[in-house]
Amino acid sequence: MSDLSPADGAVLACATGHRFDVNRRGFASLVLGSRKLIGDSAAMLDARETFLEHGWYAGLRDALSGLVAPEQAQRVVDIGCGTGYYLRGVLVALGAAGAAGARGRPGEPVLRALAVDLSAAAVARTVRSGADASGVSTVGLVADVWSPLPIRDGAADVVINVFAPRNPAEFHRVLASGGLLAVVLPHPTHLQELRAAGLALDVHGNKTADLITSLAGLFELESTEDLSTVLSLAPADVAALIGMGPSSHHQAESEPTTAQDSPAALEERSEVTVAFRILGFRRAAQ
Ligand SMILES: C[S@@+](CC[C@H](N)C(=O)[O-])C[C@H]1O[C@@H](n2cnc3c(N)ncnc32)[C@H](O)[C@@H]1O
Repeated sequence: MSDLSPADGAVLACATGHRFDVNRRGFASLVLGSRKLIGDSAAMLDARETFLEHGWYAGLRDALSGLVAPEQAQRVVDIGCGTGYYLRGVLVALGAAGAAGARGRPGEPVLRALAVDLSAAAVARTVRSGADASGVSTVGLVADVWSPLPIRDGAADVVINVFAPRNPAEFHRVLASGGLLAVVLPHPTHLQELRAAGLALDVHGNKTADLITSLAGLFELESTEDLSTVLSLAPADVAALIGMGPSSHHQAESEPTTAQDSPAALEERSEVTVAFRILGFRRAAQ
């Protein structure tokens, strides 16, 4: 398949005859191949939206936005966008930092965003909420990060990747020279109380070292920021936190996590550690 361009109607087409419809929800699905892959479900996205909109991770969103804002970036790609919570924060920060005042190519908006996720429901939510919250037009793409991404070489100034799978070679290819890759990882102490209670999955191994190794030769580590705090959560918040996480992939559809299901429902509030590492990587020239 060669480069895709808008064709007649809401269609993306390439010179060799591939055609992809842009649906009425404003995004195209370019998941290719037959691998059985599962992105986040609507129930997980509901839980994520409930939890995030409560503001529990606002500090993380602010820190990530603070990392990206000085970039003066005009093209932002979020890989594994989920509900778009972090993308919206980053776009607001970039707009406030002056990217919106910069000169774009004639006829194009100055600040543009691409929201990518394997889950069509996630992409739909991000596209729907993007323009409202940040005033920036957000285009959506359903795609698998493990496959070659249907994004042109050097099309992004910034790639953000928050608790989502990564493809180092593809991130390097789609970033422009000198571009920023901002990654958020869970710290080993993240959700330790829920793990001790058997309600969350383990944070495996040394994720930072694994990440740096996987990016070697493609990116240089430029910044690291650790955030950690203990939240005092009501039972409904705990249920949402569990419901939005990977452990809920392991639950049967017929067994959704609710405030009543959770042992935390027995208590008034639960103390839960949330701990993150935000890493900024500069694309290596090569
Ligand atoms: C833990 S969620 C994080 C979502 C969002 N970044 C946030 O922090 O709110 C991981 C996201 O990655 C997506 N995802 C999982 N596997 C993927 C893949 N192979 N390609 C693209 N996205 C994927 C899921 O659908 C989900 O939205």
